[in-house]
Amino acid sequence: MDSVTRLGVVGCGLMGSGIAEVAAREGIDVRVAEATPDAAEAGRRRVTDSLDRGVKRGKLTEEQREQALARLSFTHYLGDLADRQFVVEAVAENRDIKIEVIRALDKAVEDPGAILATNTSSIPIVDLAVATERPGQVIGMHFFNPVPVQRLVEIIPALTTGDDTVRRTRGFAEQLGKQAVQAPDRAGFVVNALLIPYLLSAVRMVESGGARPEDIDRGMELGCAHPMGPLRLLDLIGLETAQAIAESMHEEFKEPLYAPPALLRRMVAAGHLGRKSGRGFYIYDS
Ligand code: CAA
Repeated sequence: MDSVTRLGVVGCGLMGSGIAEVAAREGIDVRVAEATPDAAEAGRRRVTDSLDRGVKRGKLTEEQREQALARLSFTHYLGDLADRQFVVEAVAENRDIKIEVIRALDKAVEDPGAILATNTSSIPIVDLAVATERPGQVIGMHFFNPVPVQRLVEIIPALTTGDDTVRRTRGFAEQLGKQAVQAPDRAGFVVNALLIPYLLSAVRMVESGGARPEDIDRGMELGCAHPMGPLRLLDLIGLETAQAIAESMHEEFKEPLYAPPALLRRMVAAGHLGRKSGRGFYIYDS
């Protein structure tokens, strides 16, 4: 009775499109909101391309692809999420933007019992919760990239989050076929608190001329059986996202190891954001 049948997703970039895809494949009616008609169309294309790849790789049938697409709708008007029972926001990792979005969502979603979850990687959940009239129903739900592949979801209750919200969010994660771990509402939660300093150390190693990206990555892939080395992973996450997470962690803990290295800042300034821009530590075809 608690299962989610009408999901809203705000933002259809790397993470939002993955969340929307997974939910639609699990039989949920998904409405995706983007800021503009063009962004909504780009989001639709992203999800469709991923479903097409799934068919090519034999992960789903043509029929399942059609069914998933039929469950997805796209809008550039947040008011279209009025009837949603659960909404996940996955907009850019920027505190002001996220606060603005959650505030607007709080007004748009009619059911006062509906849950507003944020996919933030590092912004305090409580800051978003207190920006709404329903702080008991705001929670962190942190997915991992690529969302269709990674099985983990971190669930982050703020000090204000109700127990029932935590229980329903765990249930929703299970509905998506994910496994949940509960994390504290501190910048970085559990996974990024460990991952980001490691990734930044790899950037510093390149910056200091300590080793080439290929050698660092091969070292961790072959020596430690990581599916990809730290610089390839940074390219996958997006360098600007990694920088934003590092900045939030540095602001909270003032630990030098969380400070984004100059090379990372320069690459972001140059637009070398990783796979999404075609160039990061490596160059990508298309
Ligand atoms: N959508 C759906 N499926 C995908 C996919 C996508 N975008 N990308 C890859 N896959 C699937 C493939 O279909 C394939 O499935 P099978 O093995 O069943 O055939 C499998 O994943 C492996 O894919 P590939 O063979 O193409 O490539 P790979 O073996 O090099 O794996 C990878 C790619 C899945 C990305 C793998 O390298 C990996 O898991 N890397 C680590 C990623 C990681 O650490 N993510 C967490 C980042 S941190 C984060 O997201 C949080 C944050 O806040 C920053």
